[in-house]
Amino acid sequence: LNYRVPRTRKEIFETLVKGLQRLEYRGYDSAGIAVDGPSKTTSDQNNNSICLIKKTGKVKALDEELYKKDSLNLDEELCTHFGIAHTRWATHGEPSALNSHPQRSDKDNGKIYSQSIYGILIESKSLKNKSMYHINKGYEFESETDTEVIPKLIKYIYDNRENDSITFSKLVERVIKQLEGAFALVFKSRHFPGEAVATRRGSPMVIGVRSEHELLTEHIPVQYNSGEFFFKHQMPFLTQPERDLAVEFYFASDASAIIEHTNKVLYMEDDDIAVVTGGKLSIHRMNRQAGEDPVRAIMTLQMELQQIMKGNFDAFMQKEIFEQPESVVNTMRGRICFDTKKVVLGGLKDHLKEIKRCRRLIMIGCGTSFHAAVATRQILEELTELPVMVELASDFLDRITPVFRDDVCFFISQSGETADTLMALRYCKDRGALTVGVTNTVGSSICRETDCGVHINAGPEIGVASTKAYTSQFVSLIMFGLMMSEDRLSLQKRREEIINSLKMLPELIKKVLSLDEKIKAIANELYQQRSLLVMGRGFNYATCLEGALKIKEITYMHSEGILAGELKHGPLALVDKHMPVIMIIMRDACYTKCQNALQQVTARSGRPIIICCQDDTELTKNAYQTIELPQTVDCLQGILSVIPLQLMSFHLAVLRGYDVDFPRNLAKSVTVE
Ligand code: G6P
Repeated sequence: LNYRVPRTRKEIFETLVKGLQRLEYRGYDSAGIAVDGPSKTTSDQNNNSICLIKKTGKVKALDEELYKKDSLNLDEELCTHFGIAHTRWATHGEPSALNSHPQRSDKDNGKIYSQSIYGILIESKSLKNKSMYHINKGYEFESETDTEVIPKLIKYIYDNRENDSITFSKLVERVIKQLEGAFALVFKSRHFPGEAVATRRGSPMVIGVRSEHELLTEHIPVQYNSGEFFFKHQMPFLTQPERDLAVEFYFASDASAIIEHTNKVLYMEDDDIAVVTGGKLSIHRMNRQAGEDPVRAIMTLQMELQQIMKGNFDAFMQKEIFEQPESVVNTMRGRICFDTKKVVLGGLKDHLKEIKRCRRLIMIGCGTSFHAAVATRQILEELTELPVMVELASDFLDRITPVFRDDVCFFISQSGETADTLMALRYCKDRGALTVGVTNTVGSSICRETDCGVHINAGPEIGVASTKAYTSQFVSLIMFGLMMSEDRLSLQKRREEIINSLKMLPELIKKVLSLDEKIKAIANELYQQRSLLVMGRGFNYATCLEGALKIKEITYMHSEGILAGELKHGPLALVDKHMPVIMIIMRDACYTKCQNALQQVTARSGRPIIICCQDDTELTKNAYQTIELPQTVDCLQGILSVIPLQLMSFHLAVLRGYDVDFPRNLAKSVTVE
């Protein structure tokens, strides 16, 4: 919403579409937009119908559609405007224009729109039945989505209101009282022109505030409908003339959608209801919980626009792979003193004593983040001398795993929003364990809900297939191990070796990246294959899992990460002269055992592509192809050995003609269970 400086409808579209494109990595099967329709007269702004345009496919298709509509009057200038846009990752209902969002209350003169930003309603069926009950009163469902229940319900409440003074936020409040599950919603209505209402539960929502007034760096007080914390003023720190300055508010599920407009943001909490009306933002809640903060602080984000642009690369994933020499430095910056061999993770230091006293460490994550836990488990066991469990969040919850007060639970998540991981966090918190977040997203739900944590500082990761976040998670967890072992005399030599190797890491990563052409050539030989096995063990077992995941995610080839020790117990049956096998054999404690696995493969006429240490002539003899890497300390070797697999999957996907950054059926941040 902009006061003083009017914006054309075209500019409004551009802002919304650009924002959606920045969020596309979270879902891209269909997209939609709802804006105020053209005014009939100049004094008539806000009184017209809302136009809703939806399209199957990526945001680009929606963008093209917008310009086909001559009736939209793109040049009309608007002083106050609120538009909604959404890009979808289908959960309920196939990808189609009808199922895409925003969803509306009624077909003909859609008055109330809602937008669900990556939410899922668990109780949608019963809710739908409930609303269905009113179908004969004209509430006809047009989509298969659970979200559509919401605009229907809000209309029902509006149509049956007791008095006309009901506010838009009150309506929303009544609706969310009836919802179960996770959601983030924004509402727009013809009954409340120029007014925006937003709310969230479980799914993320950030509010960007762009103002010409610097005082907006302060706090927004939260209003409570009851209790002592009732704030009369919605923005007490702005005087009237200041309020007349241009103020724009952006609601988004991720700050990357709005960073080019403002870096001043505030994060909404579950059940916050944010209202923008008359150019003012206010936040209120139904009831104040004990210990709850009565303000929402406006934070300044450090994210740079350039960080979320592709630059000279063809894909975000490729850019992110090549950023790794810098991203690992950013992870270590200010945390390791290479001279004194001291490692300090500021977000953990106050809890270190408690962590050292714990019964065990439980590392929980999904996908790549889980692999980062697998990759560092052995060195963490060695450095902390504690039992370390690694857990996939969904399975951990399915098993109702016993968790105790003296457990320390790590939640590893690039986005900090993965629903499975977040649920596991709440589960452990309820059982009194100390919770530690390892995330790449400042202000994310996992950051906010854990007792303490580490930001991996890899910079925004856009490509759905995670690359630089993995290596930064890896480094962060190793730094944690180093911090835990600082006063263990017996471990000093080992610590020194690791810290010295961390210093060299960026240079070694650059050397691995220089193998890109060779890896591309190998990809050229492999891209028509249907399947690809990746084998290794010890410190590189996680590399196999992660490499195979990368290949699956973006090339759609079947790929399996196989623990070389298990080869003879089953997977060997897959090996013949046609099956491509990548083997990771590094000069570490598992070297001889890996050579045995290699023998088993070559004895079955397999033609292995071996990722090994430089100048390992012993291995190159038996290899069909080799990718030779610089050697580092055993526990860091996985950071180097995963990079050829990241590059390989990238080239395979390009050669197979797939969109690397937007793999089918996937989303970067899965905020549904
Ligand atoms: C999704 C993504 C994966 C990612 C996983 C965990 O499934 O497609 O690439 O590894 O979520 O995401 P997180 O943000 O929690 O690390």
